[in-house]
Amino acid sequence: LDSGDAAPPITEPDPRPAWVHVELGPRSYDVCIGRAVLSSLGNAIQGLAPRSRSVAFIIDDHVPAALVAGAIAEVGAVRTTCSLHLAASEPAKSLGSLETCLRFLAAHRIERADVVVALGGGIIGDLAGLAAATYRRGVPIIQCPTTLLSMVDASVGGKTGINLASDDGSLLKNMAGSFHQPLAVIAELAALDSLSPRLFRAGLAEIIKHATLAPADSGLWELTTNFLTSTPASTHHLLAELIRRNVELKAGYVVADEREELPGSGGRALLNLGHTFGHAIETLANVSPTDDLADAPLMHGEAVALGMLAAARTAFELGTLDGDSVSKIVAVIELAGLPTRVRGLPSPTEILARMMDDKKTTGGDLRLILPFAIGDVRMVEHLSRAAVTSALRTIMR
Ligand SMILES: NC(=O)c1ccc[n+]([C@@H]2O[C@H](COP(=O)([O-])OP(=O)(O)OC[C@H]3O[C@@H](n4cnc5c(N)ncnc54)[C@H](O)[C@@H]3O)[C@@H](O)[C@H]2O)c1
Repeated sequence: LDSGDAAPPITEPDPRPAWVHVELGPRSYDVCIGRAVLSSLGNAIQGLAPRSRSVAFIIDDHVPAALVAGAIAEVGAVRTTCSLHLAASEPAKSLGSLETCLRFLAAHRIERADVVVALGGGIIGDLAGLAAATYRRGVPIIQCPTTLLSMVDASVGGKTGINLASDDGSLLKNMAGSFHQPLAVIAELAALDSLSPRLFRAGLAEIIKHATLAPADSGLWELTTNFLTSTPASTHHLLAELIRRNVELKAGYVVADEREELPGSGGRALLNLGHTFGHAIETLANVSPTDDLADAPLMHGEAVALGMLAAARTAFELGTLDGDSVSKIVAVIELAGLPTRVRGLPSPTEILARMMDDKKTTGGDLRLILPFAIGDVRMVEHLSRAAVTSALRTIMR
């Protein structure tokens, strides 16, 4: 899986960075997407946090050294810097790592006016975000996402969190966290050059989720399928545009429902399409996207892709999504090179029990986000377990 042809070659320079504004009153911020945009980090900190004296970097240890050194040097020209390098994994998105981050901030005497910079994928962004939200009851953070998934999704919207270990040793995803909007998001496209094809594909899953959610007349479904079928020569510009459009879509949901409080349809909860299924299978040690167990566990995006398929099939079982739309969703997931069936999953009953542990479950009732059409996704309550069980069987090999 780590070799293949999914990651497009990204060689040409981008013409200009793109900006997306997230309007949240006093918590508003901008997302900057482009090449060489990390070189503006020092300026951004001077402008956004003029009273800061120190900047604490929390860095994913797979981010290429040159990018890290460049970012630290830019900021080092205007502020005192310190950095903590961490290995990103779901088990390490933990209370222990949160404590490591908090102790690091305390050891460097980071103050309320200072700034934390998260430089990494969704795991580092969520973890550093929670550290920033809780250290001294909250310090500002700038999110610098370095994976496709974190650029189009995790870095925008202020959700932070860690996983908790349950009594049986499995992980309860994102079970502790907070909302802490960043001061800014700086998405450096050069960071994508070092992603393995598998990691790149994992990011495509959230892009497909957004395309399924976006209104049919938005053109996002077509832009996504164009990108997936495009020739390498055109992928680069399409990718920058695709990321911008995805950030815009996510920002729209965040602006409408910052803390995921709107009941029913229209709220931020719709962004969880595929996630209750996905979270239930994401951290299982023996589930691999290929026949090779060495590729286990699933990546977040791979689990979300399988979760979207299970959601589409549940909707089909319930008679609310037509077969043609199910086929389109399956086809786009296959086109992205994401898994559609995997070995080693526990029984549907066991997966259902894990889904009931998901934090989106209320009062023992199974609520899921289901597609009713491409461009029409809704929250459904009081779900038939038989429909879910039968849908789960379709993602099993
Ligand atoms: N807060 C939110 O709104 C939100 C939304 C979606 C997902 N998430 C969370 O995001 C996490 C998944 O994020 P992810 O897919 O970015 O994965 P990740 O953070 O686990 O990163 C995946 C791997 O990529 C490596 N990596 C990071 N940047 C790299 C680079 N530039 N080059 C090479 N390797 C690099 C990491 O070290 C790690 O090994 C999950 O924990 C999920 O729950 C949060």
